Amino acid sequence: MRVVKTIDEVRRQVKEWRAQGLTVGLVPTMGYLHEGHASLIDASHRDNDRTVVSDFVNPMQFGPTEDLESYPRDIEHDAALVEAHGGDLIFHPEPEEMYHEGFSSFVDMTVLTQELCGLSRPVHFRGVCTVVSKLFNIVKPDRAYFGKKDAQQLAVIRHMVDDLNMDIEIIGCPIIREADGLAKSSRNTYLNADERKAALVLSQAIAIGKDMVKNGEKDCAAIIGSMKQHIEAEPLARIDYVKIVDCATMQQIEKLDRPALCAMAVYIGKTRLIDNFFTEDV
Ligand code: PAJ
Repeated sequence: MRVVKTIDEVRRQVKEWRAQGLTVGLVPTMGYLHEGHASLIDASHRDNDRTVVSDFVNPMQFGPTEDLESYPRDIEHDAALVEAHGGDLIFHPEPEEMYHEGFSSFVDMTVLTQELCGLSRPVHFRGVCTVVSKLFNIVKPDRAYFGKKDAQQLAVIRHMVDDLNMDIEIIGCPIIREADGLAKSSRNTYLNADERKAALVLSQAIAIGKDMVKNGEKDCAAIIGSMKQHIEAEPLARIDYVKIVDCATMQQIEKLDRPALCAMAVYIGKTRLIDNFFTEDV
């Protein structure tokens, strides 16, 4: 397992693998890796001969008041985790390697990015689409792996690949959770002990929503109402949104009459956490 910092080194390595007829999987990450990321590396290792993990805190997807500076970083820990899960190469560039002086081309998307997280994070998905496109062009993988934890991101990437005819298979992987239900996230490290306890309202609300869907409830307002009620009972929690949307368009729906995504963003203290479930997975 090698850690490289330049685009040239990645290209040279991937060309060598290609010359040997090997397939390549890509796992894009912002580092500070945990078992959620590890599950994507496992999936890539299973499906492909070689796995590249990108480890890059992408400045372009952070808003001016967001946590770019404080986002946790630990490349030594990441390298050990990637090695243990069968990854072959980590691409760990400096921001200047990805965004040279005068950089001025972007990949942007309408509609899908204007709902859910796009409302409170207006520049986020432009940054995600741009960096993921660059990573796809650098690595040229056969397959790329994304977590359902970031369900809107997964939908946006699928849509981008389809719109722009990128010849890459996108694989969505299940949410990995802590033993008590909290979805694993690099941002969980921001929570103090009280907030860590309070953060359980997200996964508890998800369980409430899932149960209602399982029992045949079709009225989205009723499901959202019960979930919000549970979250609002926690003094440290402040809801950004709890919504049910059409899986394909990310537009809100009133009745569960098609494949839907129930997604939420909730501030616990200053930390914004997300969680979700797909009605298809219930
Ligand atoms: P990051 O937050 O590091 O997440 C990298 C990948 O890991 C994403 O596809 C995310 O959905 C997945 N992931 C995170 N937590 C998970 C969990 N608990 N279970 C399953 N998968 C999980 O998402 C990004 O980075 C960036 O936006 C990126 C795509 C790398 C572009 O910069």
